[in-house]
Amino acid sequence: MQRMKLSGWIAMLASSAACAGGGRAPRPTASVRREPFGTTDRGEAVSVYTLKNTHGMEVRALNYGGIIVSLEVPDRHGRFDDVVLGYDSLEQYQRASPYFGAIIGRYGNRIARGRFTLDGRTYTLATNNGPNHLHGGVKGFDKVVWDVAPFERRDTGGLVFRYTSPDGEEGYPGTLRATVTYSLTEGNELIFDYQASTDRATPVNLTQHSYFNLAGDGRGDILGHLVTLNADRFTPVDSTLIPTGEIKSVGGTPFDFRTPTPIGARIDQDDEQLRHGRGYDHNFVLNKGGKGGTGGAGGEGAAVTLAARVHEPGSGRVMEIHTTEPGLQFYSGNFLDGTLRGKKGVVYRHRSGFAMETQHFPDSPNKADFPPVILRPGEEYRSRTIYRFSVQP
Ligand code: GLA
Repeated sequence: MQRMKLSGWIAMLASSAACAGGGRAPRPTASVRREPFGTTDRGEAVSVYTLKNTHGMEVRALNYGGIIVSLEVPDRHGRFDDVVLGYDSLEQYQRASPYFGAIIGRYGNRIARGRFTLDGRTYTLATNNGPNHLHGGVKGFDKVVWDVAPFERRDTGGLVFRYTSPDGEEGYPGTLRATVTYSLTEGNELIFDYQASTDRATPVNLTQHSYFNLAGDGRGDILGHLVTLNADRFTPVDSTLIPTGEIKSVGGTPFDFRTPTPIGARIDQDDEQLRHGRGYDHNFVLNKGGKGGTGGAGGEGAAVTLAARVHEPGSGRVMEIHTTEPGLQFYSGNFLDGTLRGKKGVVYRHRSGFAMETQHFPDSPNKADFPPVILRPGEEYRSRTIYRFSVQP
C-alpha cells in the first residue's frame, strides 16, 4: 500500500528539531501518517491514520467510525503486540462489526424501548438490540465518516475527528456538532477528549468501544486478565440489560473487583446478574471521592479519576483507565461466539476480548436519579478518558 505523507506539519518533528537545533542531536517525537483504506458502500474514501511515539507504541485509526484497527504496545520484555480486536478490511467493518474499536454516539449503551421524553415531547429511536436502542442506533457514530485533522505537538501526536449529526438523525433532536480527539503521548497514553454542542436539547453519551486482549489479539480468551475496578457499586439490569434503577453495592457479589481479580474467577457463577449479561456486561458506578463527575451531560468540570486497572500476567502488560465519566461498562466479550474472523484470519471465540466503555449510565434519559445526560444549547459537552499502558514485572 502506498504511503502518503501528509504535507506541512505532518512531517516528523525530528527533522525540524534537527534544523532548529543547528547540529544538536535531533529530538525525535510522535509522527502521524495517512494511507488509503478503501471506499465505503456509499462511495466515501476511507483512510487509516498511524500515530507512533518514540517508544514504538503505535495506534492505527480510520476516519470511518474513528475505528482503532490496531494498537501496538510493548510487553515486559519490550516486545510489541497488537492488543485490540478488529478487521483487516473496511468491507468487514461494514458487514458485521460488534462496534470493534469505534466511537459510539450519540448515546453509548442502551435506551429502553428506544423511547424517552424530553421537555414534554416523546422521541422514538430505532430498536436495534432486542426491544432496546443500543449505541446510537442503526447508523450510529461508529458507521459515519468523520473529518480528520492530524496534529503533532512536542510530546503528542493526534487526530481530531469532527462530525455534525443532523437534526433528527436516528431520531435524536437537534444538530449535534461532535469533536473527538485521540492523542498518543510519550507516556504511552492514549487520550480521548470528547466535545459536543447542540442547537436543541438532546441526550449525549459518547464513548469508545475498543476490545482488548492484553496478551495480544488472537491469543485466546481474556479470562486470566486481572481486573481492578474503582467501583463500590454497580447498576443491576433486567434481562434486556436495562438498569432496574437500583444502585447496588458490589460487596459479596461477583461484581466486586475492588482488588485485582481474574475476569474468569466468578464469571460462570450461578448469579442472576451474570445470567442477564451472559457474563459481565454491566455499568459500574465509579468512586469519585467527592471529585464531581456526576454533573452535567459531559461531567463539566469533573476531575479525571482512576476507573480501572487491567493486568495480563503472561505479558506483564498493564492498562489503566482514568476518566471524567461517572460510569464504566465492563463487557467481557460474551457475544463473541467464533463466527467472526478478525485480523490475520483469527477466529474471535467466546470472551476473546473485553471492552471498558467509560460513560454515563445506561438508559439515563429515562432515569431521573442517574447523572444527567441532556445537553442544551449554549452548553458544552466535555469528557476525557485516558488509557495508560505500562508493564509489571
Ligand atoms: C456493549 C453492550 C454489549 C454488546 C456490545 C457489542 O458493550 O453492552 O451488550 O452489545 O456493546 O456487542
